Formats: sequence, structure tokens, C-alpha cells
Amino acid sequence: MWSFHRWFERHSLILLIGILVVVSIGGLVQITPLFFIESTIERVEGVRPYTPLELAGRQIYIREGCYVCHSQMIRPLRDEVERYGHYSLAAESMYDHPFQWGSKRSGPDLARVGGRYSDEWHRAHLEDPRAVVPESVMPPYAFLARKPLDLAQMGEHLRVNRVLRVPYTDAQLVNAAADARAQAEPLGEDAYDFSKRYPTADIRDFDGDPRRVTEMDALIAYLQMLGTGVDFEAFQAEAPDNQR
Ligand code: HEC
Repeated sequence: MWSFHRWFERHSLILLIGILVVVSIGGLVQITPLFFIESTIERVEGVRPYTPLELAGRQIYIREGCYVCHSQMIRPLRDEVERYGHYSLAAESMYDHPFQWGSKRSGPDLARVGGRYSDEWHRAHLEDPRAVVPESVMPPYAFLARKPLDLAQMGEHLRVNRVLRVPYTDAQLVNAAADARAQAEPLGEDAYDFSKRYPTADIRDFDGDPRRVTEMDALIAYLQMLGTGVDFEAFQAEAPDNQR
């Protein structure tokens, strides 16, 4: 047996093929079951695709590099769950392209920041973090309140997400720009149509400036819905098959 092994180790090509065979057995053992599990992501009630305004806010979040300091994934560890709330479920980021789990926390995790503060707080904080949290090291983003949101691109954002299998309907694609404006204009004429297309989304003036739709509206709309989809009073994690 040992002499056979010596032969094996002295022929690099044969050794290489041997390594590949062994490694691919390991790979197959890990990967094959995924094709036979009905769904690798457990579907959870309440998780819905982003509205156009929230999606635009998400693009701003990525553009401004908020993910460099903020993660969006609460791990199932006691200290995290006590601080941030229920640990993150896979389904909660099923419509995220790309996902924002992150790996660095200079600031707190934002996976469940939605509803924790008022819109006014967010606006004050984004304009000048030290005005509300004196020891903060977060940079200010006051310009977002002055920058009108680019509504023309809304439809394209939704279209790209649909290519990535987010289930947007044709009506949602066509009306993306109108829907983005409608969500930030509670008294606007499109508010009713908007709420038919996105029944569970909030409609309000997020940035305190009712005259126009700004990037601040979009970012706050996004922050305020983070982690709010699933009702954890009613949620029961499905037990794996072997534990039923
Ligand atoms: C240089 C790192 C850094 C960057 C970049 C950054 N933040 Fe922060 N953020 C922090 C720190 C530190 C805190 C905690 C102190 C505070 O509340 O300001 C914080 C706090 C927050 C909070 C309050 C969270 C809570 O639970 O109290 C929100 C919301 C937030 N940031 C959003 C953003 C958004 C949106 C962006 C991008 C536009 C961003 N941050 C960019 C460092 C950063």
C-alpha cells in the first residue's frame, strides 16, 4: 500500500487528477442535495419586492457606500438578537440584488432599523449625525435633501430586477416613475393606484419637504421599511424534515 502511495506522489499529473477526483466528490456531496430540496429559501409571509421609491433609496444606499460601515444581517447570537431584534431570515433578502449583509460594523446593524426612529430623526441624522448623536463618526449626507430624485430611471431599475427574478408585474414596470412620486406624495392623485399595486407599502412625505421628491425621500423610505415585512409574533420557523 505504501509503495503504491509513493508512486502516486512522484507523478505530479496523476496526483493532480487524484486530488481533483477527491475534491469533486466533496463538492458533489455538498451541492447535489441543493437541487433536490424543494426550496433552499423558506418562503415567509410579508416579504415583498421593494417599491420603486424604496429601490431608488437602496441604490443611493449602495452609491453612498453606507454598507462600508453598516451590515444588514442579524446573526442568531444572543447579544445581537437582544440589541437588534429577531435574527435575519434568508427570505428577508430574497429580493436584494446585490444583498447588503456586509461584513463591517462601524455603525450598528440596519437590518431592522425600519420604524425604530421617526422620519424627522432620520432626516436630522442624515443631514448632520452629530446633531442627534454627539459622539457619532458617521459622515453627513445633507445634500440628499437638496437633490431631486431621478425618476426617469425608475422603470429600468425595476426591469433589471425583474431579469433577476424579482416578480414585478408589467403594470409596476410601466408605472414605476409615477409610483415613486406617488409614495412620497400622500395627497397626490396617483396615491390610490399606488396602494393597489403595493398594498403594504407606506405612503407619506418622508423628508418633510412636500414640494418635491428628493433622494432623501427615497433613502428614508428604504430605511423605514428595513426588516419590517415579517410579523414575528405570528412567524414560526419551519422545523427541518428530520425534526418533525
Ligand atoms: C464612516 C462610517 C459610516 C458610514 C459611511 C455611514 N454610517 Fe451610519 N452610522 C455610523 C455610526 C458610527 C453610527 C452610530 C452613531 C450614530 O447613530 O450616528 C451610525 C448610525 C446610523 C443609523 C442609526 C442606527 C441605529 O440603530 O441607531 C442609521 C439609520 C444610519 N447610520 C444610516 C446610514 C446611511 C443611510 C448611510 C449612508 C448614506 C450611513 N449610515 C453611512 C457610521 C457610518
